[in-house]
Amino acid sequence: MTTTPSDLWHHYGRTRAERDRAVPDAFRWNWGQDGGPGPEVLGDLSGLVVGDLGSGAARHAAHLVSHHEPARVVAVDASPGQHELAVDLFGHLAPRLRIVPSDAVSHLRAAAGTYDVLYSVFGALDFTDPPDLLSAAASALKPGGRLVFSTLAHYLGGAPAQPDVVASAVPAKTPEGEASTLRRWVLQEHVWMKVLDEAGFTDTSVDVLPSASEGPRVADTLLIRAVSVQGRRSDAGPAG
Ligand SMILES: C[S@@+](CC[C@H](N)C(=O)[O-])C[C@H]1O[C@@H](n2cnc3c(N)ncnc32)[C@H](O)[C@@H]1O
Repeated sequence: MTTTPSDLWHHYGRTRAERDRAVPDAFRWNWGQDGGPGPEVLGDLSGLVVGDLGSGAARHAAHLVSHHEPARVVAVDASPGQHELAVDLFGHLAPRLRIVPSDAVSHLRAAAGTYDVLYSVFGALDFTDPPDLLSAAASALKPGGRLVFSTLAHYLGGAPAQPDVVASAVPAKTPEGEASTLRRWVLQEHVWMKVLDEAGFTDTSVDVLPSASEGPRVADTLLIRAVSVQGRRSDAGPAG
């Protein structure tokens, strides 16, 4: 017998959605969503196919289709609750915003060579086995395709990130409010560089975005950019 896993993201962003249904004016990468660089980090998106991995309520994706000129943004999220929230808030932005209920790894594996740009803001990259997700992302990117994501630079509370590809259990809640846990990968800079390299990315750069505020739940952010090696090889053209 198989059982459907509980949706541990059901409650995320729900309170905000009750009072704020607007397409955000800004797109931020940092943990506090209150400073640092914006969507310019993604480059010129005009005419490009863009994917948001672990898009939640799709606020970042809605911003991009409303304030930039991508051909489309595909907002992928595995949580039924987040998918429902995103469709309710931003379904009217279809067809340039496509809201897809799927695990990011299976979506990317079925989309070889589809995307110009993939990004994630504390999304699927933080909560999915990195080698699995990164190799699927490398193959879903077109020649020259770019991956950009933000992730925690250290644990909330200040403990250092992991020196190896190791997940930790973090608290979560079932839709019924029962306590549970989910896996989160909080990795040191050099560990991300290594897994990206092994998954088929090159030209990786990492910026640390310091927290713009103070308090017990604040955190610094790693903003990581990389280019698919498959893309680079195709750029170079056939040998001989
Ligand atoms: C912390 S929330 C961030 C949501 C959104 N990026 C934002 O900034 O508001 C993490 C999201 O990643 C999604 N997620 C985690 N692992 C995923 C996976 N493997 N595939 C698709 N979505 C995933 C969760 O369902 C959740 O909505």
